[in-house]
Amino acid sequence: MTERLPSAAAPVVSVEDLTIRFTGERTVHAVNNVSLSLGQGEVLGLLGESGSGKSVTMRALMRLLPRKKAQISGRVSVAGQDVLALSDTALSDFRGKVVSMIFQEPALALDPVYTIGDQIAESVMRHEGKSRTEGMARALEMLDLVRIPSAKRRLAAYPHEMSGGMRQRAMIALALACKPKVLLADEPTTALDATVQIQILLLLRELQREMGMSVIFVTHDIGVAIEICDRVAVMYAGQIVETGSLADIVRRPIHPYPRGLLAATVHGAKRGARLETIPGTPPSLDVAPVNCSFSPRCASVQPRCREALPPRIDLGPGRFSRCILAEQSVPEPA
Ligand SMILES: Nc1ncnc2c1ncn2[C@@H]1O[C@H](COP(=O)(O)OP(=O)(O)OP(=O)(O)O)[C@@H](O)[C@H]1O
Ligand SMILES: [Mg+2]
Repeated sequence: MTERLPSAAAPVVSVEDLTIRFTGERTVHAVNNVSLSLGQGEVLGLLGESGSGKSVTMRALMRLLPRKKAQISGRVSVAGQDVLALSDTALSDFRGKVVSMIFQEPALALDPVYTIGDQIAESVMRHEGKSRTEGMARALEMLDLVRIPSAKRRLAAYPHEMSGGMRQRAMIALALACKPKVLLADEPTTALDATVQIQILLLLRELQREMGMSVIFVTHDIGVAIEICDRVAVMYAGQIVETGSLADIVRRPIHPYPRGLLAATVHGAKRGARLETIPGTPPSLDVAPVNCSFSPRCASVQPRCREALPPRIDLGPGRFSRCILAEQSVPEPA
Protein backbone atom coordinates (compact mmCIF):
# COMPACT_ATOMS: atom_id res chain seq x y z
CA MET A 1 0.00 0.00 0.00
CA THR A 2 1.56 3.32 -1.00
CA GLU A 3 0.65 6.68 0.51
CA ARG A 4 -0.27 9.24 -2.10
CA LEU A 5 -0.54 12.88 -1.28
CA PRO A 6 -3.65 14.60 -2.60
CA SER A 7 -2.94 16.41 -5.85
CA ALA A 8 -2.32 20.13 -5.46
CA ALA A 9 -4.25 20.92 -8.69
CA ALA A 10 -7.92 21.91 -8.47
CA PRO A 11 -10.05 18.84 -7.81
CA VAL A 12 -11.93 17.30 -10.74
CA VAL A 13 -14.95 16.65 -8.54
CA SER A 14 -15.85 18.89 -5.65
CA VAL A 15 -18.97 18.33 -3.57
CA GLU A 16 -19.86 20.75 -0.79
CA ASP A 17 -22.64 20.31 1.73
CA LEU A 18 -24.69 18.09 -0.56
CA THR A 19 -28.02 17.34 1.09
CA ILE A 20 -30.69 15.17 -0.54
CA ARG A 21 -34.14 14.53 0.81
CA PHE A 22 -36.77 12.37 -0.87
CA THR A 23 -40.34 13.45 -0.34
CA GLY A 24 -43.50 11.46 -0.93
CA GLU A 25 -45.39 9.03 1.28
CA ARG A 26 -42.30 8.96 3.48
CA THR A 27 -39.55 11.51 3.81
CA VAL A 28 -36.04 10.06 3.53
CA HIS A 29 -33.03 12.14 4.55
CA ALA A 30 -30.74 10.11 2.33
CA VAL A 31 -27.69 12.42 2.14
CA ASN A 32 -26.77 14.99 4.80
CA ASN A 33 -24.09 17.66 4.29
CA VAL A 34 -21.75 15.50 2.26
CA SER A 35 -18.50 17.13 1.16
CA LEU A 36 -15.88 15.31 -0.88
CA SER A 37 -13.28 15.98 -3.51
CA LEU A 38 -11.57 13.91 -6.14
CA GLY A 39 -8.20 14.82 -7.65
CA GLN A 40 -7.03 14.27 -11.21
CA GLY A 41 -6.16 10.60 -11.76
CA GLU A 42 -7.24 9.65 -8.27
CA VAL A 43 -9.37 6.66 -7.20
CA LEU A 44 -11.62 7.49 -4.25
CA GLY A 45 -13.43 4.64 -2.53
CA LEU A 46 -16.90 5.46 -1.16
CA LEU A 47 -17.48 2.91 1.53
CA GLY A 48 -20.47 2.23 3.73
CA GLU A 49 -23.16 -0.29 4.53
CA SER A 50 -26.39 -0.78 2.65
CA GLY A 51 -28.64 2.29 2.71
CA SER A 52 -25.88 4.71 3.79
CA GLY A 53 -26.49 6.94 0.74
CA LYS A 54 -23.66 5.89 -1.58
CA SER A 55 -25.75 5.40 -4.74
CA VAL A 56 -27.87 8.49 -4.12
CA THR A 57 -24.67 10.58 -3.82
CA MET A 58 -23.31 9.12 -7.09
CA ARG A 59 -26.60 9.71 -8.89
CA ALA A 60 -26.56 13.34 -7.76
CA LEU A 61 -23.16 13.78 -9.46
CA MET A 62 -24.84 12.87 -12.75
CA ARG A 63 -28.21 14.48 -11.90
CA LEU A 64 -29.89 11.10 -12.21
CA LEU A 65 -32.32 11.58 -9.32
CA PRO A 66 -36.11 11.87 -9.78
CA ARG A 67 -36.73 15.57 -10.33
CA LYS A 68 -39.95 16.00 -8.38
CA LYS A 69 -39.21 13.66 -5.50
CA ALA A 70 -35.60 14.57 -4.74
CA GLN A 71 -34.85 17.91 -3.04
CA ILE A 72 -31.20 18.67 -3.53
CA SER A 73 -29.09 21.43 -2.01
CA GLY A 74 -25.38 22.15 -1.84
CA ARG A 75 -22.77 22.45 -4.59
CA VAL A 76 -21.57 19.82 -7.04
CA SER A 77 -18.80 20.74 -9.44
CA VAL A 78 -17.43 18.25 -11.96
CA ALA A 79 -14.62 19.29 -14.32
CA GLY A 80 -15.44 22.93 -13.59
CA GLN A 81 -19.17 22.57 -14.39
CA ASP A 82 -21.87 23.47 -11.88
CA VAL A 83 -23.80 20.19 -12.16
CA LEU A 84 -26.93 21.24 -10.25
CA ALA A 85 -27.38 24.21 -12.60
CA LEU A 86 -26.86 22.42 -15.96
CA SER A 87 -29.64 22.74 -18.57
CA ASP A 88 -31.14 19.57 -20.07
CA THR A 89 -29.11 20.03 -23.28
CA ALA A 90 -25.90 20.60 -21.35
CA LEU A 91 -26.70 17.54 -19.23
CA SER A 92 -26.92 15.19 -22.19
CA ASP A 93 -23.48 16.37 -23.35
CA PHE A 94 -22.14 16.06 -19.84
CA ARG A 95 -23.27 12.48 -19.20
CA GLY A 96 -21.06 9.99 -20.96
CA LYS A 97 -18.55 12.59 -22.10
CA VAL A 98 -17.46 14.30 -18.87
CA VAL A 99 -18.71 11.74 -16.40
CA SER A 100 -19.88 8.16 -16.87
CA MET A 101 -21.31 5.62 -14.49
CA ILE A 102 -21.08 1.85 -14.26
CA PHE A 103 -23.86 0.28 -12.30
CA GLN A 104 -24.05 -2.79 -10.11
CA GLU A 105 -26.61 -4.22 -12.50
CA PRO A 106 -25.75 -3.96 -16.23
CA ALA A 107 -29.49 -4.16 -17.03
CA LEU A 108 -29.72 -0.54 -15.86
CA ALA A 109 -27.23 0.69 -18.43
CA LEU A 110 -27.47 -1.67 -21.39
CA ASP A 111 -30.51 -1.53 -23.65
CA PRO A 112 -31.82 -5.06 -24.29
CA VAL A 113 -33.06 -4.30 -27.83
CA TYR A 114 -29.78 -3.02 -29.29
CA THR A 115 -26.55 -4.92 -29.92
CA ILE A 116 -23.49 -4.01 -27.87
CA GLY A 117 -21.80 -2.61 -30.99
CA ASP A 118 -24.77 -0.36 -31.79
CA GLN A 119 -24.96 0.99 -28.24
CA ILE A 120 -21.31 1.96 -28.11
CA ALA A 121 -21.31 3.34 -31.67
CA GLU A 122 -24.42 5.42 -30.93
CA SER A 123 -22.77 7.02 -27.90
CA VAL A 124 -19.63 7.90 -29.92
CA MET A 125 -21.76 9.31 -32.79
CA ARG A 126 -23.82 11.43 -30.38
CA HIS A 127 -20.99 12.79 -28.25
CA GLU A 128 -18.25 13.12 -30.82
CA GLY A 129 -20.21 13.65 -34.05
CA LYS A 130 -18.52 10.61 -35.65
CA SER A 131 -19.93 8.48 -38.48
CA ARG A 132 -21.44 5.05 -37.84
CA THR A 133 -18.36 3.36 -39.33
CA GLU A 134 -16.10 5.30 -36.96
CA GLY A 135 -18.45 4.54 -34.08
CA MET A 136 -18.31 0.82 -34.82
CA ALA A 137 -14.50 0.96 -35.09
CA ARG A 138 -14.40 2.57 -31.61
CA ALA A 139 -16.82 -0.10 -30.32
CA LEU A 140 -14.47 -2.83 -31.51
CA GLU A 141 -11.48 -1.05 -29.97
CA MET A 142 -13.34 -0.77 -26.64
CA LEU A 143 -14.44 -4.43 -26.57
CA ASP A 144 -10.80 -5.39 -27.18
CA LEU A 145 -9.68 -3.01 -24.44
CA VAL A 146 -11.97 -4.63 -21.87
CA ARG A 147 -10.77 -8.04 -23.12
CA ILE A 148 -13.98 -9.46 -24.44
CA PRO A 149 -12.91 -12.54 -26.43
CA SER A 150 -13.87 -12.64 -30.14
CA ALA A 151 -14.66 -8.92 -29.88
CA LYS A 152 -15.55 -8.59 -33.56
CA ARG A 153 -18.25 -11.23 -33.31
CA ARG A 154 -19.49 -9.80 -30.00
CA LEU A 155 -20.27 -6.44 -31.62
CA ALA A 156 -23.44 -8.05 -32.99
CA ALA A 157 -24.44 -9.67 -29.67
CA TYR A 158 -27.42 -8.52 -27.60
CA PRO A 159 -26.86 -8.10 -23.83
CA HIS A 160 -28.87 -11.24 -22.99
CA GLU A 161 -26.54 -13.33 -25.15
CA MET A 162 -23.59 -12.61 -22.87
CA SER A 163 -22.58 -14.00 -19.46
CA GLY A 164 -22.78 -11.73 -16.38
CA GLY A 165 -19.03 -11.04 -16.42
CA MET A 166 -19.07 -10.25 -20.16
CA ARG A 167 -22.05 -7.93 -19.75
CA GLN A 168 -20.17 -6.10 -17.00
CA ARG A 169 -17.18 -5.72 -19.34
CA ALA A 170 -19.50 -4.48 -22.11
CA MET A 171 -20.93 -1.90 -19.70
CA ILE A 172 -17.42 -0.72 -18.83
CA ALA A 173 -16.67 -0.47 -22.58
CA LEU A 174 -19.81 1.64 -23.08
CA ALA A 175 -19.02 3.88 -20.08
CA LEU A 176 -15.46 4.50 -21.26
CA ALA A 177 -16.13 4.81 -25.01
CA CYS A 178 -16.07 8.62 -25.00
CA LYS A 179 -13.11 8.80 -22.63
CA PRO A 180 -14.86 10.54 -19.72
CA LYS A 181 -12.79 12.56 -17.24
CA VAL A 182 -14.62 10.98 -14.32
CA LEU A 183 -15.91 7.46 -13.87
CA LEU A 184 -18.42 6.62 -11.15
CA ALA A 185 -18.34 2.89 -10.49
CA ASP A 186 -21.27 1.94 -8.26
CA GLU A 187 -20.51 -1.52 -6.83
CA PRO A 188 -19.65 -2.75 -10.32
CA THR A 189 -18.57 -6.21 -9.23
CA THR A 190 -20.91 -7.14 -6.39
CA ALA A 191 -23.13 -9.37 -8.53
CA LEU A 192 -20.19 -11.38 -9.90
CA ASP A 193 -18.40 -14.44 -8.56
CA ALA A 194 -15.08 -13.92 -6.78
CA THR A 195 -12.75 -14.81 -9.70
CA VAL A 196 -14.56 -12.63 -12.22
CA GLN A 197 -14.80 -9.88 -9.60
CA ILE A 198 -11.04 -9.67 -9.16
CA GLN A 199 -10.46 -9.73 -12.95
CA ILE A 200 -12.85 -6.80 -13.42
CA LEU A 201 -11.30 -4.86 -10.52
CA LEU A 202 -7.81 -5.27 -11.95
CA LEU A 203 -9.06 -4.32 -15.41
CA LEU A 204 -10.67 -1.15 -14.06
CA ARG A 205 -7.54 -0.15 -12.20
CA GLU A 206 -5.44 -0.72 -15.33
CA LEU A 207 -7.79 1.29 -17.56
CA GLN A 208 -7.91 4.07 -14.99
CA ARG A 209 -4.10 4.35 -15.04
CA GLU A 210 -3.87 4.14 -18.84
CA MET A 211 -6.54 6.78 -19.40
CA GLY A 212 -5.54 8.97 -16.42
CA MET A 213 -9.17 8.95 -15.32
CA SER A 214 -10.47 10.03 -11.94
CA VAL A 215 -12.71 7.40 -10.38
CA ILE A 216 -15.16 7.19 -7.48
CA PHE A 217 -15.52 3.54 -6.61
CA VAL A 218 -18.51 2.65 -4.46
CA THR A 219 -18.29 -0.49 -2.38
CA HIS A 220 -19.39 -1.91 0.94
CA ASP A 221 -16.34 -4.18 0.96
CA ILE A 222 -13.23 -2.70 2.58
CA GLY A 223 -11.12 -5.51 1.02
CA VAL A 224 -12.15 -4.28 -2.45
CA ALA A 225 -11.34 -0.68 -1.47
CA ILE A 226 -7.87 -1.79 -0.32
CA GLU A 227 -7.24 -3.37 -3.74
CA ILE A 228 -7.93 -0.34 -5.86
CA CYS A 229 -8.35 2.97 -4.00
CA ASP A 230 -5.92 5.80 -3.24
CA ARG A 231 -8.27 7.54 -0.82
CA VAL A 232 -11.36 6.44 1.05
CA ALA A 233 -14.49 8.25 2.29
CA VAL A 234 -16.62 6.31 4.76
CA MET A 235 -20.39 6.97 4.79
CA TYR A 236 -22.79 6.28 7.61
CA ALA A 237 -26.49 7.26 7.59
CA GLY A 238 -26.07 9.75 4.75
CA GLN A 239 -22.94 11.45 6.09
CA ILE A 240 -19.24 11.09 5.44
CA VAL A 241 -17.92 10.24 8.89
CA GLU A 242 -14.25 9.99 7.97
CA THR A 243 -12.06 10.44 4.93
CA GLY A 244 -8.35 10.14 4.28
CA SER A 245 -5.72 8.23 2.35
CA LEU A 246 -6.20 4.48 2.15
CA ALA A 247 -3.37 4.08 4.67
CA ASP A 248 -5.00 6.57 7.08
CA ILE A 249 -8.32 4.78 6.99
CA VAL A 250 -6.93 1.26 7.14
CA ARG A 251 -4.09 1.81 9.63
CA ARG A 252 -5.22 4.81 11.67
CA PRO A 253 -9.00 5.11 11.56
CA ILE A 254 -10.40 7.36 14.30
CA HIS A 255 -14.19 7.23 14.01
CA PRO A 256 -15.51 4.06 15.68
CA TYR A 257 -17.57 3.19 12.58
CA PRO A 258 -14.61 2.68 10.19
CA ARG A 259 -12.75 1.07 13.10
CA GLY A 260 -15.66 -1.35 13.52
CA LEU A 261 -15.83 -2.01 9.78
CA LEU A 262 -12.15 -2.96 9.77
CA ALA A 263 -12.59 -5.24 12.76
CA ALA A 264 -15.46 -6.95 10.92
CA THR A 265 -13.45 -7.62 7.74
CA VAL A 266 -10.79 -10.15 6.84
CA HIS A 267 -7.86 -8.15 5.45
CA GLY A 268 -4.03 -8.13 5.65
CA ALA A 269 -2.96 -8.24 9.29
CA LYS A 270 -6.45 -9.39 10.40
CA ARG A 271 -6.16 -12.69 8.55
CA GLY A 272 -6.71 -15.47 11.04
CA ALA A 273 -7.89 -13.07 13.79
CA ARG A 274 -11.37 -13.26 15.30
CA LEU A 275 -13.90 -11.04 13.49
CA GLU A 276 -16.09 -8.70 15.51
CA THR A 277 -19.40 -7.32 14.31
CA ILE A 278 -20.82 -3.88 15.11
CA PRO A 279 -23.84 -4.36 17.38
CA GLY A 280 -27.09 -2.59 16.51
CA THR A 281 -28.55 -1.32 13.26
CA PRO A 282 -28.32 1.96 11.31
CA PRO A 283 -30.81 4.71 12.28
CA SER A 284 -34.01 5.56 10.47
CA LEU A 285 -33.56 8.33 7.91
CA ASP A 286 -37.05 9.76 8.53
CA VAL A 287 -35.62 12.81 10.28
CA ALA A 288 -32.48 14.84 9.61
CA PRO A 289 -29.66 13.99 12.03
CA VAL A 290 -29.49 16.17 15.15
CA ASN A 291 -26.65 14.35 16.89
CA CYS A 292 -24.05 11.71 16.03
CA SER A 293 -26.01 9.09 14.04
CA PHE A 294 -23.58 6.38 15.14
CA SER A 295 -23.89 7.18 18.88
CA PRO A 296 -26.50 4.46 19.67
CA ARG A 297 -24.02 1.82 18.42
CA CYS A 298 -20.80 3.40 19.63
CA ALA A 299 -18.71 1.83 22.39
CA SER A 300 -16.90 5.15 23.00
CA VAL A 301 -20.04 7.31 23.18
CA GLN A 302 -19.96 10.42 25.42
CA PRO A 303 -22.92 12.57 26.52
CA ARG A 304 -22.11 15.38 24.05
CA CYS A 305 -22.30 12.90 21.12
CA ARG A 306 -26.03 12.68 21.84
CA GLU A 307 -26.49 16.41 22.27
CA ALA A 308 -25.34 17.87 18.95
CA LEU A 309 -24.01 16.98 15.53
CA PRO A 310 -20.31 16.22 15.80
CA PRO A 311 -18.21 18.89 14.11
CA ARG A 312 -16.07 18.12 11.10
CA ILE A 313 -12.52 17.94 12.44
CA ASP A 314 -9.84 18.57 9.81
CA LEU A 315 -6.77 16.44 10.33
CA GLY A 316 -4.56 17.54 7.43
CA PRO A 317 -4.83 17.65 3.63
CA GLY A 318 -7.64 15.40 2.40
CA ARG A 319 -8.37 14.00 5.85
CA PHE A 320 -11.22 14.71 8.28
CA SER A 321 -13.31 12.92 10.85
CA ARG A 322 -16.74 13.70 12.26
CA CYS A 323 -15.98 12.26 15.67
CA ILE A 324 -14.98 14.02 18.88
CA LEU A 325 -12.26 11.38 19.37
CA ALA A 326 -10.43 13.17 16.54
CA GLU A 327 -9.95 16.22 18.77
CA GLN A 328 -6.89 14.52 20.27
CA SER A 329 -5.43 13.92 16.80
CA VAL A 330 -5.57 17.48 15.44
CA PRO A 331 -2.06 18.32 14.15
CA GLU A 332 -0.17 21.14 15.91
CA PRO A 333 -0.15 24.35 13.86
CA ALA A 334 3.15 24.69 11.96
N1 LIG B 1 -35.83 7.37 -5.41
C1 LIG B 1 -35.86 7.22 -4.08
N2 LIG B 1 -36.97 7.55 -3.36
C2 LIG B 1 -36.99 7.43 -2.02
N3 LIG B 1 -35.98 6.97 -1.28
C3 LIG B 1 -34.86 6.60 -1.94
C4 LIG B 1 -34.74 6.70 -3.37
N4 LIG B 1 -33.51 6.26 -3.72
C5 LIG B 1 -32.89 5.89 -2.56
N5 LIG B 1 -33.69 6.11 -1.50
C6 LIG B 1 -33.36 5.87 -0.08
O1 LIG B 1 -32.16 6.57 0.22
C7 LIG B 1 -31.38 5.83 1.16
C8 LIG B 1 -29.97 5.64 0.62
O2 LIG B 1 -30.03 4.77 -0.50
P1 LIG B 1 -28.78 4.37 -1.39
O3 LIG B 1 -29.32 3.63 -2.56
O4 LIG B 1 -27.96 5.58 -1.68
O5 LIG B 1 -27.98 3.40 -0.43
P2 LIG B 1 -26.58 2.67 -0.72
O6 LIG B 1 -25.59 3.18 0.28
O7 LIG B 1 -26.23 2.80 -2.16
O8 LIG B 1 -26.94 1.16 -0.34
P3 LIG B 1 -26.54 -0.24 -1.08
O9 LIG B 1 -25.18 -0.61 -0.54
O10 LIG B 1 -27.60 -1.17 -0.61
O11 LIG B 1 -26.55 -0.02 -2.56
C9 LIG B 1 -32.11 4.52 1.40
O12 LIG B 1 -32.87 4.66 2.57
C10 LIG B 1 -33.03 4.41 0.19
O13 LIG B 1 -34.20 3.69 0.51
MG1 LIG C 1 -26.12 1.46 -3.74
